[in-house]
Formats: sequence, C-alpha cells, structure tokens
Amino acid sequence: MAYRLTVLGTGYLGATHAACMAELGFEVLGLDVDAAKIERLRAGDLPIHEPGLREVLVRNLANGRLRFTTSYEEVAEFGDVHFVCVGTPQKRGENAADVSYLDAVVESLAPHLTRECLVVGKSTVPVGTAQRLADKLVRLAPSGTNAELAWNPEFLREGFAVQDTLHPNRIVLGVASERAEKILRDIYAPLGEDVPVVVTDYPTSELVKNAANAFLATKISFINAMAEVCESSHADVKQLSLALSFDERIGGKFLNPGLGFGGGCLPKDIRAFMARAGELGADQALTFLREVDAINMRRRARMVDLARELVGGSFHGCTVAVLGAAFKPNSDDIRDSPALDVAVTIGHQGGRVTVYDPVALDNARMAHPELTYGESALAAARGAHVVLLLTEWQEFIDLDPEELGQVVATRKIVDGRNALDAETWRAAAWHYRALGRP
Ligand code: UDX
Repeated sequence: MAYRLTVLGTGYLGATHAACMAELGFEVLGLDVDAAKIERLRAGDLPIHEPGLREVLVRNLANGRLRFTTSYEEVAEFGDVHFVCVGTPQKRGENAADVSYLDAVVESLAPHLTRECLVVGKSTVPVGTAQRLADKLVRLAPSGTNAELAWNPEFLREGFAVQDTLHPNRIVLGVASERAEKILRDIYAPLGEDVPVVVTDYPTSELVKNAANAFLATKISFINAMAEVCESSHADVKQLSLALSFDERIGGKFLNPGLGFGGGCLPKDIRAFMARAGELGADQALTFLREVDAINMRRRARMVDLARELVGGSFHGCTVAVLGAAFKPNSDDIRDSPALDVAVTIGHQGGRVTVYDPVALDNARMAHPELTYGESALAAARGAHVVLLLTEWQEFIDLDPEELGQVVATRKIVDGRNALDAETWRAAAWHYRALGRP
C-alpha cells in the first residue's frame, strides 16, 4: 500500500523527515502552526542551514510529492501515518523536558481524524510519555478511526541530517501491535535491508534515545575530564585520546577533547533524563550525569581562564577574537553554544569581543546584540590581543597563520577544539595554547 504521510512540526527534525520521506517516494504533507515558516517552506526557502536539505526540499516540492499546510483538518483527512516531530525543550528554570507541544499535537489532530491511522512520535521524550499520549489519542479520536500510537525515536545529527535520515545506523520501533510494526517496516523498507530494526515496547524505545544521548555526552565529558587531569600533570590529552582510540572497544568517535558539547539536544536531554529518573525514584542511577554536565560546563570556564591568563590576567582594555558561534561546524544552530557562552562571559568580564562564524552570524547577532561581529575571520581578528577558536569550521582549520598574524595585535591563539596543528602555528611565531595540552 502506498501510505500517505504527514509530518507534524517542521523544525529541524520535521523539515528533514518530511523532505526525506518524499525523496523515498511517499506523498508527504507537512504541518506547522507557524504560518510564516510554512510559507517559506512552500517557497523552497529552508529556515535552517543543513547541507543538502534544500536540494531535497526543492526537488520534492517541484515533483509535487511534498506539500505544506497549517490545517489539522487537512492532515487528518490526508494521512495514513502521522509523524510527530515537535520539540521537547527544557522547561524554564527546571531540568525537566516540556512535552506540551506533543500534547498539543495529539489534542489538535485526534478530533479531526476520520479514518484508520497510525500516529508515530519521533521526538525525544521522558520515558512514559508515549503510553500517556497513546491513551490520550484513543480517548480523543472519534470511535471507528482505530487510531494507534507508535514511538520511533530519531537519531539524526545536525549537519548530517539528510544522510542520517536516508542511511540510519538503526531504526527503533516502539509498538503496541503487529499492525503498527508492519506499517513502519513498510515505510522504512526503501532504506534497504541492511538497516537493523529493533522492535520493542514504548518505554524501551523512549529510553534508547535517552540512553544514546547520555552515552555520547558521557564519552565527551570523559575525555574532557582526562583533559583536566592532563592540564594538572603536563600531559597531552590529544595524544591520550589518539592512543585510546586504537582500542576498538573504546573507539575514536566522540572522543575529541575541547570545549565540550552544546546544541539543542545533548545538554537538555541529559538534564531531562535525570529529572525523569528522579520522578521514577531511580535518580541514583543517573547521578553520574550531573558530573557529566558539570565537567562539560567547566570546560567553558577553563577556556575563559586560559584566555584571560594569556592576555595578562584581565580582559579590560583587551580585544578578543572569537572564531565560531554555532554549537558545532556545518550548522547555524546556536542553541546552548559553548562558543557564544564563552564570548558572552568574556564580554561580561570587560573584554571587547568580536565574533565571526561562517553561517551562524545572523542567529548570533539576534540572540546577542551586545557582542560585536566581524564579516570574516580576518575582520574579527583585526587588532585582537588573543584569538579563540571555539567552533572547528574547516575554514578556521585552513586559516593561514601568517596572514592572520598580520592583522592581530599579538600572536596568541587558544584552540578550544584541538583542531589546529600546533607546530604550524608555533612555526609562524604564534603563542599556541589548547585545552588539555601543555
Ligand atoms: C546529537 C546526537 O549525536 C544525535 O544522535 C541526537 O539525535 C541529537 O543530539 P547533535 O546535537 O546534532 O546530535 O550534535 P553532535 O554531532 O552529537 O555534537 C554534539 C556536541 O558535542 C557538539 O557541541 C560537538 O561540538 C560536541 N562534541 C562532539 C565534542 O565536544 N567532542 C566530540 O568528540 C564530539
């Protein structure tokens, strides 16, 4: 059967999922309550920077498989399978996740349903949410519609969203019936037989996502904890990390020491996971995540300290160039960006900070009008007493130390991502420092 799909919520996850499902050959209708966003998407104008996504969007708008709407009646009428892709941000002043957007989707969709359908949650949620939403769906859907819920967490990374959606390393299905499993297996069949599919219950599927993000965050904080010990013992965490990576049981991915993790997922997800465990009486199991979070935040403080030390103990009267505003390269996402956090702190401590980022500059400007911005790395570095590399864009890795040296006031650089070749910079008479290295 050729299922007709809808995607509810067209943010990062939803826009990607809608475009990629159309790319697989399905007819897809995307919905968002933000009419301005829908207008932009209809025009093929992607509100986010994500390599390759615009092309997939435009192609599938043109061939007619992908459409967008703001009407719940229209999606209820159209869809056999409704993917729910709304955000679950951190609650203000709390660690817990705010799942109210998910409730709103179910409450808006269910009363309009007119026929059999499957509602599939993709958002990252506190365990127990799927069962609660499943009950709500059944309660609110008109009788005879046989509406059912499934949970299918998404693991895509920003910057690789299209690739990760079309070539996932696994598919996890939290289902309550064979019917739901069959529908989802059919939908993902075009991804190929090699993709492992784990079929399980609601709570396990929710926890897989929580656990994956907790593990990744822990791996990053582990190597950053080693960086702290290296700093105290004149050892080199980059070489340590390299040596660890050859042990296949450890592996080299997510073992890059530096300024630590940020973004819209890892920081808030580990906090929400701890909060949920607390509600369930299992808080002891996750107290280590508090340390993971603390280690991560300490890297930012250490970066500020190192920069201050390099300029002689105080930022007053100093110009600081910050290279990078996005939370990671190949993204314009500045949510919980370690780079911007450091820039803002140095500003508060009296430094004149000029920030440059290849694509996140507009977002940074909007969020932090108090900072100064440069239109290029060289422009941001002009007259700087210290240069801080805080997001490892390739453009920064490719910088010519000699050319940059011509514009700065003093040749001092802190490599917050351990991305540069120390020898090259030192050979060009730069005072090069990095987190976790002598
Ligand atoms: C993450 C998960 O990878 C993804 O599976 C999940 O669906 C959402 O959260 P994302 O937020 O896009 O994806 O970014 P990711 O590539 O995981 O990087 C997260 C942060 O960790 C970045 O700030 C990055 O700079 C940092 N990081 C990553 C390190 O500091 N060191 C590393 O070795 C790897």
